[in-house]
Amino acid sequence: MRAYDYLVIGSGIAGLSFAHKAAANGRVALITKRTLEESNTAYAQGGVAAVWSSDDSVEAHTRDTVEAGAGLCNESVVRGVVEEGPARIQELIDLGAEFTRSGDPSRELYDLGLEGGHSVRRVLHAADHTGREIVAALVRAVRLDPNIDVFENHHAIDLLIDQKFGFGHGVPQCWGAYALDFNSGKVHTFTARATLLATGGAGKVYLYTSNPDVASGDGLAMAYRAGCHIANMEFIQFHPTCLFHPEAKSFLVTEAMRGEGAKLRRPDGSAFMAAYDDRAELAPRDIVARAIDQEMKRNAYENVYLDVTSLDEDFIKSRFPVIYEKCLEYNINITRDMIPVVPAAHYMCGGVVTADTGETGVERLYAAGEVTHTGMHGANRLASNSLLEGLVFAHRAAVHAKEARDDPTDAPRVPSWRSGRAVDINESVVISHNWDEIRRLMWNYVGIVRSDRRLKRAQARVSMLRDEIRQYYWDFLVTGDLLELRNIALVAELIVRSAQTRRESRGLHFNVDCPESDDENWRRDTVI
Ligand code: SIN
Repeated sequence: MRAYDYLVIGSGIAGLSFAHKAAANGRVALITKRTLEESNTAYAQGGVAAVWSSDDSVEAHTRDTVEAGAGLCNESVVRGVVEEGPARIQELIDLGAEFTRSGDPSRELYDLGLEGGHSVRRVLHAADHTGREIVAALVRAVRLDPNIDVFENHHAIDLLIDQKFGFGHGVPQCWGAYALDFNSGKVHTFTARATLLATGGAGKVYLYTSNPDVASGDGLAMAYRAGCHIANMEFIQFHPTCLFHPEAKSFLVTEAMRGEGAKLRRPDGSAFMAAYDDRAELAPRDIVARAIDQEMKRNAYENVYLDVTSLDEDFIKSRFPVIYEKCLEYNINITRDMIPVVPAAHYMCGGVVTADTGETGVERLYAAGEVTHTGMHGANRLASNSLLEGLVFAHRAAVHAKEARDDPTDAPRVPSWRSGRAVDINESVVISHNWDEIRRLMWNYVGIVRSDRRLKRAQARVSMLRDEIRQYYWDFLVTGDLLELRNIALVAELIVRSAQTRRESRGLHFNVDCPESDDENWRRDTVI
């Protein structure tokens, strides 16, 4: 039993910044599945969008976000985040995060990138490794803070909800979480007066994803099991350009390249985006990913190409050093060769319904970052708005969670984890087979373009798999793979259910059986 004021689950931008701030008010436990440095945030290339230049305005950033969101953004949430963003980014800079400076400091101190859907340059970046730079600054602060205990290699299993243990009444309250310690194989009970879910997204639900292995939707699944509302899960964003190479797993090729003039081309070298949208390569992501999907399916291409060869060689190497080096590993010299790319699952625009304060529907449970649905992203997230949202909501949650910490209510007596008659898992192949099956069927049936028939098949298969997995969960001692499988299966089911519910196409959800948007009936969130 480990008792704290605050429990933070996850170590991306939201978890790290919340921990850093909450530690000013109490003792913090931060649990993370791998190391503090491993999260979706760490792989962010493009950057953080914010109103930073004199050419920009809150109005313009809000308008671009709302337009990309295809009618489902909550405009007042967007405006609030956009207004607050620069102050939160300044705090990162104060912690030592170094963003790339502009060549002309008399104009702007920082170089600002451009990405799809943005009407002006507003993306702060550290070359093409922005996430790594931000994580490094936050990790330094967290590791140095004596009020924060970091528990790496710990996998949160489930939240401690008072009513599940026979306490409390009315609105359920969260008092921490059970977590599996991979080092000892033991399950520990972490109690806290306020808990933050900052577990990121669920790219691993799909066969092809830009996300690292940790992105298995754990927080979303725990929140659902705890009784939280989950919204808009049909809006899974596919990043248009991930490196296509048999050995290159999950490698993103940033949209900022298109901002600097890169062209999407067919294998014969012809450009195609202008035929789909007047903004061509700079159209919002849903449009670009669908165009690529259509080109690949119509012409039976295995991939398309991103071409930056018209840009200056030195500029390419200094602006995109990580991509340049990575592609060289596969004998692709991006200054001369076109980059083979395909779309891949990238970002979950829906999530745990979260208020402006970061509160969820369960008391003492907060959420921030990709795990949430705050109203910011609508039906399609604008590029580089996610780090911004994570920062702003982590701050707000840290401010509000002080109330939960100070509230004098006695914590309920939480029972320790019991394994009952569970035994060591003796058939790991069953777990890996089910993992593979879910990810493949989600890719094939619930991908960029959907149909009623494919969704129905997906629903039937996922429901069968969930029954099997439920059985393993009770029969076997928990392992990381089993916990993740249980979570991705649930997240898959929530995506399929939401996609079946929405009887129209909008933003990232495109169903050939109802291809038009229906504002009259469907300009609203899908809430489970
Ligand atoms: C990218 O660099 O293209 C990713 C940025 C984002 O997902 O916002």
